[in-house]
Amino acid sequence: MLTGADPWFEDWRIMKVSFSVNGKDVHVDVEPKTTLLAVLRDHLGLTGTKAGCENGDCGACSVLIDGDLRKSCITPVKQIEGTAVTTIEGIHDENGGPNDMQQASWTTAPPSAVTAPRG
Ligand code: FES
Repeated sequence: MLTGADPWFEDWRIMKVSFSVNGKDVHVDVEPKTTLLAVLRDHLGLTGTKAGCENGDCGACSVLIDGDLRKSCITPVKQIEGTAVTTIEGIHDENGGPNDMQQASWTTAPPSAVTAPRG
C-alpha cells in the first residue's frame, strides 16, 4: 500500500519550491524529480539555458547556484529550495548589456566547422 511516507510516492507528489532566479523570488509547484532545467525553460520561460545531452556531459544547461557552477539538467528542483540561481539572462553589465566575458567569447571564438574555409 502506498502512503505519504513511501519514497516512490514522495517523488510524484507536487511540492512547492521557492528560490530566486536572477535576483527575483520565484515559487513553483512541481514534482520533486523535475529538473531545474525543465523549471527554468518550461515554467519560467528562461530559454537561455539550453538543453543538450540532458545527462550531465555537455554543460549546455549550466547555471550558477549560490555562485557554484552546476548542470541544471541533472539537478532535481527539490535540491534548490532557498538558493539563488543565476542563468545566462542574469549575467550582464551594470547597463543591462553583455558583460566583458560574453563580449570576449563573441570576438575570440574560432570559426565554426560550418563557416571555416576549407584548406
Ligand atoms: S544538457 Fe548537457 S550537461 Fe546538461
